[in-house]
Amino acid sequence: MSEQQNSRSIRSLVTPDEALANLLDLFRDLGITDFYFPPTQIDPVVAVQNSQNFDVLEQLRIQEIGNCIRCKLHKGRKTIVFGEGNPAAELMLIGEAPGADEDIQGKPFVGRAGQLLMQMIKAINFERKDVFIANVLKCRPPNNRPPEPDEVHTCSPFLFKQIEIIKPKVVLALGTFSAQLLLNSKSSISFLRNRVYDMPFAKVIATYHPSFLLRSPQKKPEAWEDLKLVRKTLQEN
Ligand code: URA
Repeated sequence: MSEQQNSRSIRSLVTPDEALANLLDLFRDLGITDFYFPPTQIDPVVAVQNSQNFDVLEQLRIQEIGNCIRCKLHKGRKTIVFGEGNPAAELMLIGEAPGADEDIQGKPFVGRAGQLLMQMIKAINFERKDVFIANVLKCRPPNNRPPEPDEVHTCSPFLFKQIEIIKPKVVLALGTFSAQLLLNSKSSISFLRNRVYDMPFAKVIATYHPSFLLRSPQKKPEAWEDLKLVRKTLQEN
Protein backbone atom coordinates (compact mmCIF):
# COMPACT_ATOMS: atom_id res chain seq x y z
CA MET A 1 0.00 0.00 0.00
CA SER A 2 1.38 3.45 -0.93
CA GLU A 3 1.97 6.00 1.81
CA GLN A 4 -0.89 8.14 0.46
CA GLN A 5 -3.35 5.20 0.46
CA ASN A 6 -2.18 4.20 3.94
CA SER A 7 -2.74 7.68 5.41
CA ARG A 8 -6.17 7.84 3.71
CA SER A 9 -7.25 4.52 5.24
CA ILE A 10 -5.99 5.58 8.69
CA ARG A 11 -7.84 8.88 8.42
CA SER A 12 -11.08 7.12 7.50
CA LEU A 13 -10.82 5.03 10.71
CA VAL A 14 -11.43 8.16 12.82
CA THR A 15 -15.12 8.93 13.21
CA PRO A 16 -16.32 12.57 13.46
CA ASP A 17 -17.06 11.99 17.19
CA GLU A 18 -13.55 10.68 17.79
CA ALA A 19 -12.09 13.61 15.87
CA LEU A 20 -14.06 16.02 18.08
CA ALA A 21 -12.95 14.14 21.23
CA ASN A 22 -9.31 14.36 20.09
CA LEU A 23 -9.69 18.10 19.50
CA LEU A 24 -11.23 18.62 22.95
CA ASP A 25 -8.34 16.59 24.50
CA LEU A 26 -5.90 18.87 22.72
CA PHE A 27 -7.70 22.00 24.02
CA ARG A 28 -7.69 20.57 27.58
CA ASP A 29 -3.96 19.87 27.30
CA LEU A 30 -3.49 23.48 26.23
CA GLY A 31 -5.49 24.65 29.27
CA ILE A 32 -8.51 25.79 27.26
CA THR A 33 -11.62 24.64 29.12
CA ASP A 34 -14.23 27.33 28.41
CA PHE A 35 -15.91 27.86 25.07
CA TYR A 36 -18.05 30.76 23.94
CA PHE A 37 -20.77 30.33 21.33
CA PRO A 38 -22.40 33.61 20.22
CA PRO A 39 -26.20 33.56 20.59
CA THR A 40 -28.07 32.91 17.36
CA GLN A 41 -29.26 36.22 15.98
CA ILE A 42 -33.02 36.14 15.54
CA ASP A 43 -34.63 39.42 14.59
CA PRO A 44 -37.44 39.82 17.21
CA VAL A 45 -39.75 41.50 14.66
CA VAL A 46 -39.34 38.57 12.27
CA ALA A 47 -39.86 36.08 15.11
CA VAL A 48 -43.16 37.72 16.13
CA GLN A 49 -44.35 37.90 12.51
CA ASN A 50 -43.48 34.22 12.03
CA SER A 51 -45.43 33.06 15.03
CA GLN A 52 -48.44 35.30 14.30
CA ASN A 53 -48.61 34.11 10.69
CA PHE A 54 -48.15 30.52 11.82
CA ASP A 55 -51.18 30.79 14.12
CA VAL A 56 -53.36 32.40 11.43
CA LEU A 57 -52.33 29.75 8.89
CA GLU A 58 -53.16 27.02 11.42
CA GLN A 59 -56.57 28.61 11.93
CA LEU A 60 -57.16 28.61 8.16
CA ARG A 61 -56.10 24.99 7.88
CA ILE A 62 -57.99 23.59 10.85
CA GLN A 63 -61.04 25.81 11.28
CA GLU A 64 -61.79 27.02 7.75
CA ILE A 65 -60.61 24.17 5.54
CA GLY A 66 -61.09 21.41 8.11
CA ASN A 67 -61.85 17.97 6.70
CA CYS A 68 -62.92 19.57 3.40
CA ILE A 69 -65.62 17.93 1.29
CA ARG A 70 -66.38 20.99 -0.84
CA CYS A 71 -65.43 19.36 -4.15
CA LYS A 72 -65.35 15.86 -5.65
CA LEU A 73 -61.60 15.43 -5.06
CA HIS A 74 -62.19 14.63 -1.39
CA LYS A 75 -63.47 11.20 -2.41
CA GLY A 76 -60.10 9.97 -3.70
CA ARG A 77 -57.60 11.88 -1.60
CA LYS A 78 -55.63 10.47 1.33
CA THR A 79 -54.47 13.82 2.74
CA ILE A 80 -55.22 17.50 2.31
CA VAL A 81 -51.91 19.05 1.25
CA PHE A 82 -52.20 22.51 2.78
CA GLY A 83 -48.65 23.66 1.99
CA GLU A 84 -45.65 24.20 4.21
CA GLY A 85 -42.67 26.38 4.89
CA ASN A 86 -41.74 29.73 6.38
CA PRO A 87 -44.98 31.46 7.47
CA ALA A 88 -43.41 34.85 6.68
CA ALA A 89 -41.55 33.81 3.53
CA GLU A 90 -40.37 36.42 1.03
CA LEU A 91 -40.79 33.84 -1.71
CA MET A 92 -43.79 31.54 -2.26
CA LEU A 93 -43.73 28.70 -4.78
CA ILE A 94 -47.08 27.62 -6.16
CA GLY A 95 -47.59 24.43 -8.12
CA GLU A 96 -50.61 22.71 -9.60
CA ALA A 97 -51.88 19.94 -7.31
CA PRO A 98 -50.51 17.18 -5.08
CA GLY A 99 -49.31 13.99 -6.80
CA ALA A 100 -49.17 10.48 -5.35
CA ASP A 101 -46.19 11.11 -3.03
CA GLU A 102 -47.64 14.38 -1.77
CA ASP A 103 -51.05 12.77 -1.17
CA ILE A 104 -49.43 10.12 1.03
CA GLN A 105 -47.04 12.39 2.92
CA GLY A 106 -49.33 15.43 3.19
CA LYS A 107 -46.53 17.74 2.00
CA PRO A 108 -46.15 19.59 -1.31
CA PHE A 109 -43.43 18.74 -3.81
CA VAL A 110 -41.83 15.75 -2.09
CA GLY A 111 -41.56 13.51 -5.18
CA ARG A 112 -39.18 13.71 -8.17
CA ALA A 113 -40.50 17.09 -9.29
CA GLY A 114 -39.96 18.31 -5.73
CA GLN A 115 -36.33 17.21 -5.79
CA LEU A 116 -35.76 19.21 -8.95
CA LEU A 117 -37.59 22.18 -7.46
CA MET A 118 -35.29 22.09 -4.42
CA GLN A 119 -32.24 22.13 -6.71
CA MET A 120 -33.73 25.08 -8.57
CA ILE A 121 -34.26 27.20 -5.46
CA LYS A 122 -30.89 26.21 -4.03
CA ALA A 123 -29.35 27.76 -7.13
CA ILE A 124 -30.71 31.13 -5.94
CA ASN A 125 -29.61 30.53 -2.33
CA PHE A 126 -32.88 29.37 -0.81
CA GLU A 127 -33.57 26.22 1.16
CA ARG A 128 -36.93 24.51 1.55
CA LYS A 129 -37.39 25.96 5.04
CA ASP A 130 -36.94 29.55 3.74
CA VAL A 131 -39.84 29.53 1.28
CA PHE A 132 -43.53 28.61 1.51
CA ILE A 133 -44.72 25.96 -0.95
CA ALA A 134 -48.36 25.43 -1.89
CA ASN A 135 -50.53 24.37 -4.82
CA VAL A 136 -53.57 25.63 -6.69
CA LEU A 137 -55.42 22.51 -5.44
CA LYS A 138 -54.98 20.96 -2.03
CA CYS A 139 -56.19 17.48 -2.98
CA ARG A 140 -54.81 15.06 -5.54
CA PRO A 141 -56.84 14.72 -8.76
CA PRO A 142 -57.37 11.07 -9.79
CA ASN A 143 -54.38 9.75 -11.79
CA ASN A 144 -52.85 13.26 -11.66
CA ARG A 145 -55.28 14.56 -14.26
CA PRO A 146 -55.33 18.36 -14.75
CA PRO A 147 -57.42 20.41 -12.30
CA GLU A 148 -61.00 21.04 -13.44
CA PRO A 149 -62.55 24.55 -13.38
CA ASP A 150 -64.99 23.79 -10.53
CA GLU A 151 -62.12 22.44 -8.40
CA VAL A 152 -59.96 25.52 -9.02
CA HIS A 153 -62.97 27.76 -8.31
CA THR A 154 -63.64 26.00 -4.98
CA CYS A 155 -60.08 25.58 -3.74
CA SER A 156 -58.17 28.65 -4.93
CA PRO A 157 -59.72 31.13 -2.43
CA PHE A 158 -57.78 29.26 0.28
CA LEU A 159 -54.56 29.73 -1.67
CA PHE A 160 -55.25 33.46 -1.97
CA LYS A 161 -55.88 33.59 1.79
CA GLN A 162 -52.51 31.91 2.37
CA ILE A 163 -50.82 34.52 0.17
CA GLU A 164 -52.63 37.29 2.06
CA ILE A 165 -51.39 35.94 5.41
CA ILE A 166 -47.79 35.24 4.34
CA LYS A 167 -47.40 38.46 2.30
CA PRO A 168 -44.49 37.26 0.16
CA LYS A 169 -42.60 39.76 -1.95
CA VAL A 170 -42.51 37.37 -4.88
CA VAL A 171 -44.71 34.46 -5.90
CA LEU A 172 -43.18 32.01 -8.34
CA ALA A 173 -45.94 30.33 -10.35
CA LEU A 174 -44.92 26.84 -11.44
CA GLY A 175 -46.57 25.78 -14.68
CA THR A 176 -49.62 26.73 -16.67
CA PHE A 177 -52.37 26.26 -14.08
CA SER A 178 -50.64 28.25 -11.40
CA ALA A 179 -49.56 31.02 -13.78
CA GLN A 180 -53.00 31.35 -15.40
CA LEU A 181 -54.74 31.49 -12.02
CA LEU A 182 -52.36 33.96 -10.40
CA LEU A 183 -52.14 36.20 -13.46
CA ASN A 184 -55.80 35.84 -14.38
CA SER A 185 -54.77 34.96 -17.91
CA LYS A 186 -55.42 32.32 -20.52
CA SER A 187 -51.99 32.64 -22.18
CA SER A 188 -49.50 29.81 -22.39
CA ILE A 189 -46.70 29.43 -19.87
CA SER A 190 -44.09 30.07 -22.55
CA PHE A 191 -45.73 33.46 -23.18
CA LEU A 192 -46.22 34.35 -19.49
CA ARG A 193 -42.78 33.37 -18.17
CA ASN A 194 -39.73 35.56 -17.57
CA ARG A 195 -41.57 38.78 -16.73
CA VAL A 196 -42.43 40.46 -13.44
CA TYR A 197 -46.16 41.10 -12.95
CA ASP A 198 -47.14 43.59 -10.29
CA MET A 199 -50.27 41.93 -8.94
CA PRO A 200 -52.21 43.44 -6.00
CA PHE A 201 -51.09 40.63 -3.65
CA ALA A 202 -47.39 40.33 -4.69
CA LYS A 203 -45.03 40.40 -7.61
CA VAL A 204 -45.58 37.27 -9.70
CA ILE A 205 -43.06 35.53 -11.93
CA ALA A 206 -44.01 32.42 -13.89
CA THR A 207 -41.82 29.54 -14.97
CA TYR A 208 -42.14 25.99 -16.24
CA HIS A 209 -43.43 23.31 -13.88
CA PRO A 210 -40.60 21.06 -12.59
CA SER A 211 -42.46 17.95 -13.87
CA PHE A 212 -42.36 19.48 -17.37
CA LEU A 213 -38.64 20.21 -16.94
CA LEU A 214 -38.05 16.55 -16.03
CA ARG A 215 -39.64 15.59 -19.35
CA SER A 216 -38.07 18.45 -21.34
CA PRO A 217 -34.63 19.12 -19.82
CA GLN A 218 -33.69 21.30 -22.81
CA LYS A 219 -35.99 23.93 -21.25
CA LYS A 220 -33.91 24.16 -18.06
CA PRO A 221 -31.81 27.13 -19.28
CA GLU A 222 -35.04 29.14 -19.68
CA ALA A 223 -36.13 28.17 -16.16
CA TRP A 224 -32.72 29.34 -14.92
CA GLU A 225 -33.38 32.75 -16.54
CA ASP A 226 -36.69 32.91 -14.65
CA LEU A 227 -34.97 32.04 -11.35
CA LYS A 228 -32.38 34.76 -11.90
CA LEU A 229 -35.28 37.17 -12.41
CA VAL A 230 -36.75 36.00 -9.07
CA ARG A 231 -33.43 36.67 -7.33
CA LYS A 232 -33.08 40.12 -8.94
CA THR A 233 -36.66 41.08 -8.07
CA LEU A 234 -36.19 40.05 -4.44
CA GLN A 235 -32.95 42.01 -4.21
CA GLU A 236 -34.58 45.13 -5.64
CA ASN A 237 -37.71 45.08 -3.43
N1 URA B 1 -46.72 18.79 -8.63
C1 URA B 1 -47.34 19.87 -8.12
O1 URA B 1 -47.81 20.73 -8.86
N2 URA B 1 -47.42 19.99 -6.81
C2 URA B 1 -46.89 19.12 -5.97
O2 URA B 1 -46.99 19.31 -4.78
C3 URA B 1 -46.24 18.00 -6.53
C4 URA B 1 -46.16 17.85 -7.85
